[in-house]
Amino acid sequence: MSLPDAALHAAAQTYGTPLYVYDAAELDAALARVRAAFGNARVHYAMKANPNLTLLRRLQAAGVGFECVSTGELARAAHIGARGEHVLVNGPAKTEAEYRLGGELGATFILDREEEVGLLPPAARVLVRVNPALKVSTHDHLATGSASSKFGVTPDQTPRILAALRGAGHTALGLHVHIGSAIRNAGDFTAAFARLRDLRAHTGPLAVLDAGGGWSLDADLHGIAREAHAAAAAYGAQLWVEPGRYLVAGAGTLLTRVVGTKVTGRPFALVDAGMTELLRPMLYSAQHPVRPLWERPGVGPWDLAGPACESGDILARNVPLPAPQSGDLLAIGEAGAYGAAMSSTYLTRARPAEVLYAAGEWTVIRRRETPQAIWALEEAE
Ligand code: LLP
Repeated sequence: MSLPDAALHAAAQTYGTPLYVYDAAELDAALARVRAAFGNARVHYAMKANPNLTLLRRLQAAGVGFECVSTGELARAAHIGARGEHVLVNGPAKTEAEYRLGGELGATFILDREEEVGLLPPAARVLVRVNPALKVSTHDHLATGSASSKFGVTPDQTPRILAALRGAGHTALGLHVHIGSAIRNAGDFTAAFARLRDLRAHTGPLAVLDAGGGWSLDADLHGIAREAHAAAAAYGAQLWVEPGRYLVAGAGTLLTRVVGTKVTGRPFALVDAGMTELLRPMLYSAQHPVRPLWERPGVGPWDLAGPACESGDILARNVPLPAPQSGDLLAIGEAGAYGAAMSSTYLTRARPAEVLYAAGEWTVIRRRETPQAIWALEEAE
């Protein structure tokens, strides 16, 4: 990320830590890279990655639509005025409220199981999510396209479901595939799109092929795009994509301050952010780049330990740090996706403020939560 260190120090000083900071220029640049690689494909941002309204509105203004997986996400889409072709309703266990809200918004539905044919609102536009039954190169929790995952329908079921949708008065727009998240091996996408192409003989032409998201930050976007376009072309279909991480991860940084150090079996730098602010290291053994924002002689390896009373609350191991002291500031990178979005109020820890850097200025895009706000719903009205 390209934010100047001085701006990061200023933000930490003004807004306190832990703090999520976002770089608008990097968000715009990521979208430009997606557009350059995928050309005329329609982009629906998977808002689960970061549903902050300011970021959503910025993407919306650039013509991006949204993939939503809950009533809350659909409410966010509705709140910013996204509707119709700009909204996708997805999820393996959609509720009545989601069918209703999606129907009201004129959204497109991603069907995840055969029974949904009878649950959709009347005359719905529908993509059928196909599970390609592939082994995918990512953390088990992030793989969605394996035979044992809960997502999608089998290739065998697909032609029958398309026919059933048409029979029920819906528009069977096309197919959808999303094999997982943080996928680095372009070959996984190639294999998934090849499965879809194999299905073409059994489905006939279709209007849309949605190739999902899942690209790691260093993925070969042009290679993935080439394969996705080829699969869409086989159907005579328009290509749609659903990036989450790729659009926002690099734009976000978590700022945290050193509270103190201690050396037990290992050298620990104790910091004011942890699993409640950034769960990914604990949940997926994710490795985020960590950058100390100070200089001092005596660089050595330190484990970054959060404040929770849980041994797993470690943000990173063996980080080279120059003799950390209380008050030193650290930038944890690639935190714009599934960072703030997955933060929690465990331990009645108020969630961090979020600030956006655009045109040389910081703007608060989410105020720091308060303990009172956390317990407010527990008091009688
Ligand atoms: N489309 C569908 C249907 C999805 O389920 C997802 C993510 C995406 C698109 C966007 O995937 P992305 O481009 O962001 O990889 N909490 C995890 C990631 C879970 C992703 C769930 N689905 C993490 O922190 O890595």
